[in-house]
This record gives sequence, C-alpha cells and structure tokens, in this order.
Amino acid sequence: MSEQNGLPRHIAIIMDGNGRWARKRGLTRIRGHIEGVKSVREITEECAKRHIGQITLYAFSSENWSRPRLEIELLMRLLKRYLIRERKTIMDNNIRFTVIGRIEALPRDVQEEIAEEIEMSKNNTGMILCLALNYGGRAEIVDAAIKLARKVKEGKILPEDINEETLRENMYTAGMSDPDLLIRTGGDMRVSNFLLWEISYTELWVTPVYWPDFHKENLEEALRDYAFRERRYGGLVQ
Ligand code: FPP
Repeated sequence: MSEQNGLPRHIAIIMDGNGRWARKRGLTRIRGHIEGVKSVREITEECAKRHIGQITLYAFSSENWSRPRLEIELLMRLLKRYLIRERKTIMDNNIRFTVIGRIEALPRDVQEEIAEEIEMSKNNTGMILCLALNYGGRAEIVDAAIKLARKVKEGKILPEDINEETLRENMYTAGMSDPDLLIRTGGDMRVSNFLLWEISYTELWVTPVYWPDFHKENLEEALRDYAFRERRYGGLVQ
C-alpha cells in the first residue's frame, strides 16, 4: 500500500511502563518516573523539530491518586522540578505550554509553576505541548456538561443548542484539533480514560517498549506506521 498521510498534526501519548522499567532493574518506581522525564524531554524536542503541531502527554490521571501517598508526593515533586527545569527547552524550541485536567486539585506550588510556564510561553508560535494532569476523559465530559447546564440555567443557550459542536467547545481541549495518532507505550491495549471524546477517529499505535526506553527511533517507527494508515472516518475508500 502507498503512503496515505503526512505527519500527524497532533500526537497524544500514554506514557506507560515507568514502574515496570524500574522493577526490571531492581530500582524504585520513582526512578522509573525520573528516567521517564528524560524521554519526555527527548520526544518533546524531536516533535518540535519535526514541526508537529501539538503533543498531549498523559502525565497524571485522575485515577493515579489511588497510588501510594509517597509515590504521588514524589511525582508531584518531579513535576514541579520538570516545570522549572524545562523552561529553557520550551523557550529554545518556541513551544507553547498548556495543560488539561482538574488543575485546581493539584498542590498549590505545582499550580503556580504551571501558571508561570503558560504565561512565559504564551507568545511562542511553534508546537503546543499539552500536559494532561489530574486528567480523566469521563470527568472532562462531565465538566463540559456542567458548563453547558449552567449556560442553559442562565438563559444564555437553549437545551436544543447543545450538539456535538457546542459540547466540543466546552471541553478542556476547546480550540485544539483532535489527535491524529495516539501512542501507548508499555504494551497494554487500553485507552485508560484518556481523551475519550477526542480520539473517536484517532489512529492507535501500541508498543511494548516501556516509556523510559522510548526514544526518537521508536517515535520514527510510529510515524512511519501512521503514514501508511488509511483513514476513512466512517466513510469509504476513495
Ligand atoms: C506510568 O507508569 C506513568 C505515569 C504514572 C505518568 C507518567 C509520568 C512521567 C513520564 C514522569 C513525570 C512526567 C512529567 C511530565 C514530569 P507506571 O508507573 O504506570 O508504570 P507501570 O505500568 O509499569 O507500573
């Protein structure tokens, strides 16, 4: 079959396997997350260089709160350190930083670093780097429903005005394009409550490689595979 697509405009990534990567080496889970941050940096820079429009990374799910308290604390500390240390990479690569999720439930100091990152990079014109933090796909749909219900109550819209488009405009991802490609590392064939609404027609690509072992070459493989996918969006082949 011939090549069908160019580069994806928007890539979403479920970065899984940090814990297993660490366990295989007799290390603590947090060491896996620390190593995972290196992959975040490498893949972000590579995508920016390839002029991908947006990457959305699943960094902390709403279900991750059920992990041991120490792991959550260390993840939050790691996230804060990442936000501070990554400023140069973000600015050097003309990246615009943003987030999706229930950010208000994150520790205050992390929220402050997020706000600063967004402010600092708001005029950048290159790739959008979106971190999904305390994010759940079902919660996103619920939050959009609440916003719309409020607008109806306030008489700003009628119930009949609610359709796929208005719902989309009230999601955390309002104004963003839907992902063209969803990459999941760590081998599990699941969507895990990530971008449920937005991935209706997204191409899925799963690799057994653990996230800390995911490098440019692995991304290249995913992009090559994507190029040959036939996207029909429910229609027929032309
Ligand atoms: C899954 O590994 C990974 C996460 C919980 C989130 C990803 C976090 C990072 C890459 C590090 C922090 C990120 C930033 C941006 C600072 P897992 O623990 O579920 O692995 P397992 O399935 O092998 O247990």
